Amino acid sequence: MKLFSSVNDVVDVQSLVKEALHLKQNPYAYEHLGKHKTLGLIFLNPSLRTRISTQKAGTNLGMNVMVLNIDKEGWALELQDGAIMNGGTVEHIREAAGVLGQYVDIIGVRSFPGLKNRDADYSEDVFNKFVKYCGVPVVSLESATRHPLQSLADLVTIEELKTKARPKVVLTWAPHVKALPQAVPNSFAEWMCRADVDFTITHPEGYELCTDFTNGATITHNQDEALADADFIYVKNWSAYEPYGKVFGGYEDWMLTNDKLKPTNNAKVMHCLPVRRNLELSDEILDGQNSIVIHEAGNRVWAAQAVLKQMLETL
Ligand code: CP
Repeated sequence: MKLFSSVNDVVDVQSLVKEALHLKQNPYAYEHLGKHKTLGLIFLNPSLRTRISTQKAGTNLGMNVMVLNIDKEGWALELQDGAIMNGGTVEHIREAAGVLGQYVDIIGVRSFPGLKNRDADYSEDVFNKFVKYCGVPVVSLESATRHPLQSLADLVTIEELKTKARPKVVLTWAPHVKALPQAVPNSFAEWMCRADVDFTITHPEGYELCTDFTNGATITHNQDEALADADFIYVKNWSAYEPYGKVFGGYEDWMLTNDKLKPTNNAKVMHCLPVRRNLELSDEILDGQNSIVIHEAGNRVWAAQAVLKQMLETL
């Protein structure tokens, strides 16, 4: 594997999930693969889970791992081709990415959307420029429109904890005070549409996701109806795709509570984290027996390790 930016970069999704679960049982079995190899993790935005889990995954594979919070510690990046750089930007992404590719064997990049210009965000300009100019394999650490390492960890978690061959998985919108990207729900939807699950998305009117990611899902505005018989509930806020990046206010009653779990199949509750307590998810859910959010975050290591292993095998 030379690029991990979406589920479309994976030849066999089920094998990758199995590989992650195998690595969970045998974390150090492939330490030789990463000997004298370096992983560079480049962040243009904050992170807790992605940074530490991917760092641990690389270390488990014997790699040296370097992290650069390029937005704070690097030179201000210019992205536009042909720019006359007489303003605030100091280094063009052509040089920055190219130089980083001289120092590392695999690069991870995190770059969030601006949520102002849909075409610009959905063109994945920043991520794609890193891919184009760095000259080494690239793994997405969350881009403007997708978070594939999170979605792989989510699928690994469902595969590990399911109690029936084809579980019902529900992605439900949750309230928030800020406009958040669509990357996590887009990505979760496209991975679930490729998995052997019965997949439903529920959200208030106006929060429709781009249909490129939801083809094959059942979509409803009725949360109660969606939650009936659910085995897994994935909770996430996102801003509107149309009008892009907007939030409409209200819908506080979409927050998941123990009452809402009653018609489910004792559903396990997932969230990518970070989560705003008692806004997106109630204390009673997060601290209760149905929450698997910590377990899910733990699986980020094995998802990242499975991807890095496949990349190392092609170096
Ligand atoms: N879920 C997730 O990607 O967490 P971080 O933003 O902390 O990396």
